Amino acid sequence: MKNDEFIVARIEEAIQESKDSKTFILPNALNSRPGQFVMLWLPGAGEKPISISGEKNGKFSVTVCAVGPVSKAMYKLKKGDKLGFRGPFGTHYTIPKDSTSIAVVGGGYGSAPLAYLSEVAIAQGKKVYFIEGARNKARLLFAERMKKAGAEVLLSTDDGSEGIKGYSTDVLKNLLKTHKIDKVFTCGPEIMMKKVAEISQKFKIKCEISMERYMKCGIGLCGQCAVDELGICLCKEGPILPGEKALSLKEFGSYRRDSTGKKVEW
Ligand code: FES
Repeated sequence: MKNDEFIVARIEEAIQESKDSKTFILPNALNSRPGQFVMLWLPGAGEKPISISGEKNGKFSVTVCAVGPVSKAMYKLKKGDKLGFRGPFGTHYTIPKDSTSIAVVGGGYGSAPLAYLSEVAIAQGKKVYFIEGARNKARLLFAERMKKAGAEVLLSTDDGSEGIKGYSTDVLKNLLKTHKIDKVFTCGPEIMMKKVAEISQKFKIKCEISMERYMKCGIGLCGQCAVDELGICLCKEGPILPGEKALSLKEFGSYRRDSTGKKVEW
């Protein structure tokens, strides 16, 4: 199978994760690595890059949150419906071989690739601190799955309805003050990831972030996902970047470009 060709699959399972997000399990082996994405395609609605939220036993999953017109149409799908995809694409998170403990920091549906990463790290015998932050309890997506997988789950909500009242970055800071962590991984709102990269840098701990931009081709041809000022295309040289590299990008945490190339502030 060439990964730039479309495959059409039937959804084997549709799991309701929250009131506006679902995980779809598709019966295909991708040989993916955590952090990579697929271009999901729903005829009549459109195509969208989505992080892979898990892969095992010849099946992979994606978690779709109903936020824009394409994802809203995908969210309505159920078991047995058809969904097209191509991939996997992009760079992946790297768990250091000699590490013993890692921390992941997820916000909103950004927790999806981190759930996949955590399961892989636990299978390698690593201790995983799974930090997840959300507006409220109903928006925490993977806490139960991660507890079952054996991660230490640390939650925060803006309204205090679950975990500590505050931000996931506060939880990370406290963890790094009191525990030996070998590497930090993050995915979620860019302002949160920028803070995570800065905190990790302050504690002299390696970090990887997942930077998302509007994508068209997904394979490095159209230039749509190039970022200022390095000009790297995030569909090929990202989405996973070392924290220091992300911090050197002028637009990281401050703006992105829409489908017409216009700057949009976060
Ligand atoms: S989406 Fe076309 S180059 Fe990245």
